[in-house]
Amino acid sequence: MFVTGARPNFMKVAPIMHELAERKSDLTTELVHTGQHYDFEMSGVFFDQLGIAAPHVHLQVGSGSHGVQTGRIMSAFDEYLAARPQPPRAVIVVGDVNSTMACALVAVKRGIPVAHVEAGLRSFDRAMPEEINRVVTDVVADLLLVSEPAGLENLTREGLPSERIRYVGNVMIDTLVKQLPDARSLAMAERHGMRRGDYAVVTLHRPSNVDVDDRLRKLVELLRRLADRLPVVFPAHPRTEKRLAELGLKDELTCNARVHFTAPIGYREFVGLMETARLVVTDSGGIQEETTHLGVPCVTLRANTERPATVTSGTNTLVGENLDDAWRAIEQILEGHYKKSRSIDGWDGRASSRVVDALLEWLQH
Ligand code: UD1
Repeated sequence: MFVTGARPNFMKVAPIMHELAERKSDLTTELVHTGQHYDFEMSGVFFDQLGIAAPHVHLQVGSGSHGVQTGRIMSAFDEYLAARPQPPRAVIVVGDVNSTMACALVAVKRGIPVAHVEAGLRSFDRAMPEEINRVVTDVVADLLLVSEPAGLENLTREGLPSERIRYVGNVMIDTLVKQLPDARSLAMAERHGMRRGDYAVVTLHRPSNVDVDDRLRKLVELLRRLADRLPVVFPAHPRTEKRLAELGLKDELTCNARVHFTAPIGYREFVGLMETARLVVTDSGGIQEETTHLGVPCVTLRANTERPATVTSGTNTLVGENLDDAWRAIEQILEGHYKKSRSIDGWDGRASSRVVDALLEWLQH
């Protein structure tokens, strides 16, 4: 039984479910959608584009504070499991969203084995809701499927037994590799009236950036400065759009002819836009990995990352509190003095095959 809930889950679940279907094992699969994300642009479009079958069940939990949302997911998932004639052989959770932790907890409490895809990532920042989700999920999960080298070190240091841990690589890159030809055929730069290699893509949604008024004001100032240098495409998360409107900052962006402020866009559209961008400015986790694979410079508006390989081997630069640092990184990129990506073990488009090998072997024992 696979669990999804929020936007970054769909591209992780898709390649594993496809690979399992191809293996023709005696396992049947079932997909649960918690409904943490519910707008079409945040959820439905990913099912359409990634070829994921409709979920067997939609728990429709919706938004809420972290405690309320996590609690709702737990009770809805628990009731769903209780109503089944038989428990599933295993529950597979991915990533670090509230749905990941909530469903892992419910499953282990019912004695159902849990596998965690993207285990071991740590930002060491407990103010970040996802960090709590990662730590809790890894402690309770039975099989820890690790995506990047730091994950192995973190789990080992935390004392998690090596029998539970497998290095499989990054399943998000599988989806990226598979979808790239279709993404290219959309000619996204042209659609936005941009010249390839001559525009920036921006995304923002972390509470630490968008929920703090002063920080969000400063970030809008940074974007205005960036737009003076090259056009910007900014597909805004609903949370970000709401916050910008509350602070009276949305008009400033929508009225700027050099900023294309849009609703969230589909996976393929976003990959297509990213691939031919001069640079990406973001606070997302997954985009740090995708830009590294695509070799596109990425400035991450965070003081830390749970994905350090994107900094040490990839195209990612972290900038925290001081936005002068962000500007310096942007200038370096614009001047053409910027690092290139090196390959990262297991980010090769075949991670889902290793995930399925590990799952089948684990279930046999
Ligand atoms: C969640 C994940 C985050 C991930 C992000 C990707 C957690 C703790 N956070 O954050 O790790 O990077 O998804 O998007 O799980 N909203 C809508 N429509 C939707 C979904 C949300 O309008 O379909 C709005 C609501 O106002 C909601 C707010 O966005 O309150 C935040 O949504 P929520 O699911 O709480 O967290 P995200 O910020 O999306």
